[in-house]
Amino acid sequence: MKGIILAGGRATRLRPLTKITSKQLLPIYNRPMIYYPIETLAKAGIKNILIIVAPESSGQFLNLLGSGNEMGVNLSYEVQDQPNGLSEAFIIGQNFIADDNVALILGDNIFDHNFAESVSSFKSGARVFAKEVSDPERYGVVEFDENHKVISIVEKPKHPRSNYAVVGFYIYDNKVVEYAKSLKLSERNELEIVDLHNKYLSRGELDVNIIEGMWEDAGTFDSLLRVNNLVAEKVRSGKL
Ligand code: TTP
Repeated sequence: MKGIILAGGRATRLRPLTKITSKQLLPIYNRPMIYYPIETLAKAGIKNILIIVAPESSGQFLNLLGSGNEMGVNLSYEVQDQPNGLSEAFIIGQNFIADDNVALILGDNIFDHNFAESVSSFKSGARVFAKEVSDPERYGVVEFDENHKVISIVEKPKHPRSNYAVVGFYIYDNKVVEYAKSLKLSERNELEIVDLHNKYLSRGELDVNIIEGMWEDAGTFDSLLRVNNLVAEKVRSGKL
């Protein structure tokens, strides 16, 4: 299993913090944000990692992380010229993925969950993860039938059919490259990850694992502050 971290994007919601640097290089307590997704992948047993960055901050990532040797991982880099959507990761990462399965993590998603078991037991299809939240309308929401079978995933629904939000860690088999290439741009001009998931779902190849524990996407001032405090508390008490 290989790993991709998506660390591009414009981070407009965090301006002016992100006017001259990448969101994923902002501090979370005592370390730059990008350390956390690298560690989430490493803890899951994934050491061969591609970091996808925006052109203007590529040098900063290289200066900070280099080969990855210090963190015990093997890092490669690719530039995403424009933030064309999450699914573009598999087109940009095609050569890196080669014939392997791949896990994708969003560079601004902070977890304390250990994905090792979900990674090692993965065989084929797509495996996504969901967490119960109080504000599902902000995320991709999983709709289940009475037997807990997944019926659909809906992006930012006005009237969510469950409280289960899809989090920013995903596992795919090698078909993801071909599926990503077949996607059409959405109304907001992006290759959407939800379209990829619904492609797997329509073929009966998607499973959803429920996770608990800390999960934050650090994309707004309030969530960035919240995750800083949560991580500080965990580091001080030796839990992270
Ligand atoms: P978002 O938070 O959806 O987008 P953003 O970071 O550009 O922020 P904003 O909405 O405030 O402008 O992105 C989620 C994560 O995915 C984040 O870590 C950036 C990354 N990303 C890319 O690397 N490439 C992309 O094309 C997109 C859309 C996001």
